[in-house]
Amino acid sequence: MKKTLVKSLSLFLCLALLTSSVLFASFASDNGLEPRRITVSVNGDTSVSRGFCWYTDDKTGSEVRIFYDGADVSGSLTFSDVTCSEWQGSYMHKVTVSGLTPGKTYTYKVGYEVWSSDGSFTTDDGDDKVNFINISDVQAGSLDSFLKGRATLDAAYKTMPDADFYSNCGDFTNDSTNEEWDYYHEAFQSLNMTATTAPVAGNHDGFGAEGWFSNMFNLDTSESVQNNNGVNYSFDYGNAHFAVLNTNDLASVSLSQLKWLKNDMNGTSKDWKIVLMHKSPYSLGKDSKWPDALYLQESLGAVLDRCGVDLVISGHDHQYLRTKTLYNNRVSENGTVYVLAGTAGTKRYEVRSFLEGTFIDKNQIAALVVQKNGYGNYWNGTDWNSTKDTNVGGAFSCISIDGGTLTFNAYILADQKDESDGDVITNIDSFTITKETGKNSATFNGDNKTSRTEYYLNIVPSVICLAGYAFGLWLPKFLFMLPKLISVYINDGIF
Ligand SMILES: [Fe+2]
Repeated sequence: MKKTLVKSLSLFLCLALLTSSVLFASFASDNGLEPRRITVSVNGDTSVSRGFCWYTDDKTGSEVRIFYDGADVSGSLTFSDVTCSEWQGSYMHKVTVSGLTPGKTYTYKVGYEVWSSDGSFTTDDGDDKVNFINISDVQAGSLDSFLKGRATLDAAYKTMPDADFYSNCGDFTNDSTNEEWDYYHEAFQSLNMTATTAPVAGNHDGFGAEGWFSNMFNLDTSESVQNNNGVNYSFDYGNAHFAVLNTNDLASVSLSQLKWLKNDMNGTSKDWKIVLMHKSPYSLGKDSKWPDALYLQESLGAVLDRCGVDLVISGHDHQYLRTKTLYNNRVSENGTVYVLAGTAGTKRYEVRSFLEGTFIDKNQIAALVVQKNGYGNYWNGTDWNSTKDTNVGGAFSCISIDGGTLTFNAYILADQKDESDGDVITNIDSFTITKETGKNSATFNGDNKTSRTEYYLNIVPSVICLAGYAFGLWLPKFLFMLPKLISVYINDGIF
């Protein structure tokens, strides 16, 4: 009897152990197959395609299922460039979906054995309207800081709920570590599931470590020429053509990328031409004194002039600044408006007014708002230190193009909430650009691809050009303002 009892108990224990280990294994395995870091990006023709990227801890298949009106329409679509590759201890999945119908709202899920929750996106309907949101420089290192950036983006979607997509002008993270990208996705995931994004690489998004930025999004990089510390690509939305630059390599904009941009902009018949990039040619923040800012003014500026680019949105220096319309680096009736978007995060830079006259002229500035001390150091045209009576916070912009009118509005979401109304959102800048549409025609129809070898061969003249600008233009200007720089360093302790 005792023997039978021991036998039964052993059997029971074995079964219990087996069941729990099977259960545990399946639980662990399911967890490892769960899609995370999910993003939907512009990729190719925005009226018929999207690029999906996501991660799993364990190796598994890569599938996207697309639904319209509740019905699975995946069978009628094309799924291309399907990849699953190991990256920093996890598995990165990419799938490009095409064959969608313009102007439709789809739901989707990604995964294989374990599926994500439902997300959604809407394809461009092909009319001449587009609404988009821009944020920049969240540059966070902790989940709490990323959540503050997310709150800024939520305020943007509250202000422009019908945005077709949102761009982020770079510096998503501070040090581009696995942990920081996890925090980014944790903070932005629920919104990224339902918003198409057009991301821009910043110098904090994996500088010197190839792949971080481009492994977080599925972008059309078939023509990308400068892809060491980011990527360049382009897309259309509404009646606008967008080119996204990578300004993070040694030569912030290489000769290869300038050639690509010229061909890309001359290859579109869209009426509006917009460039999104990270580093800013015009600024009054600490980063505007470096050679690459001046190099961008002199080299990129000439290409933008020749191609008739209407608007440049950038980041890097954490303050909001808008130039007047510039052509050949001078104020002009026709030309390009440069917007330094301000930070959606919490790291905010002051005005370095002594840079004025050396790296930017006062008369080139149309609006300047620093997200400190009120929305303080608000330049009112005469006084760098004037302030406006409002709370400070993260910046975002809402841009709307309708036919021949582009309307740009910049806002600040106050750090502090109004006790009764919640979010306090202040419109800090507003302008419109108008133009006669139907006048632009494409003049470039060739192949705009550059081989890796060509890029590296072009790097030599690119660096010589940058060095030429640095010694010829930047160094004399830098020496001129050096005494002031030293005095600021001594008095403030930082620059
Ligand atoms: Fe930056």
